[in-house]
Amino acid sequence: MEQPTPVLRPVTAADLWVLERQADEPDAGGVFNWSGFRDIAGTRRRFEEHRLITPDAGCLVVQVPEGVAGVVTWCRVSYGVPAWSCWNIGIQLLPEFRGRGLGGPAQQRLVAYLFDTTPVERVEAYTDVENVAEQRALERAGFTLEGTVRSAQFREGRWRTVHLYSVLRDEFKAADPRT
Ligand SMILES: CC(C)(COP(=O)(O)OP(=O)(O)OC[C@H]1O[C@@H](n2cnc3c(N)ncnc32)[C@H](O)[C@@H]1OP(=O)(O)O)[C@@H](O)C(=O)NCCC(=O)NCCS
Repeated sequence: MEQPTPVLRPVTAADLWVLERQADEPDAGGVFNWSGFRDIAGTRRRFEEHRLITPDAGCLVVQVPEGVAGVVTWCRVSYGVPAWSCWNIGIQLLPEFRGRGLGGPAQQRLVAYLFDTTPVERVEAYTDVENVAEQRALERAGFTLEGTVRSAQFREGRWRTVHLYSVLRDEFKAADPRT
């Protein structure tokens, strides 16, 4: 059966349970993202202030017909001076929505949204060298492996090495079915 296309939309008050679950349950956001319990009161405050969308970061819900599958996020990364910036993206699908082929299309839609609405040249993402599912999903979304960043994330008592991926505006546009 063909997997329905995920739609990205802003977070509403009715979606905050997803962020609460991901703040409290290690696997709700994925063990590769778990860095301890998070401040859900702070998330609620930020939601009230700016709906979790600012000029430097954002969060959207991944919606499928059965319900909310998870969230995608982005934040600004600068290389040298603020003007030399790009986006770094992330994804957290709820366990019950993993393994259905949603991760690639959801991240592809986030990249399309960011290239459509902001003038950046580059979108990047990193993932643990052991997170094979995310590596496949990023490749499906059009990303290219750039290299390895050693001992970059602390998880389960030790420093972990990540793969860094990116996609550039022109190469994404060349592969974009809308163009
Ligand atoms: C990582 C994630 C985005 C992948 O999305 P997904 O929709 O679950 O993944 P898919 O169903 O498209 O599977 C992706 C591929 O990985 C493969 N795969 C899945 N788990 C795997 C594993 N443990 N080992 C090897 N391959 C695996 C699948 O077979 C599929 O391969 P294919 O592209 O050749 O068909 C999603 O599982 C998720 O949100 N996980 C928790 C959070 C997380 O890890 N986020 C990324 C952190 S940086």
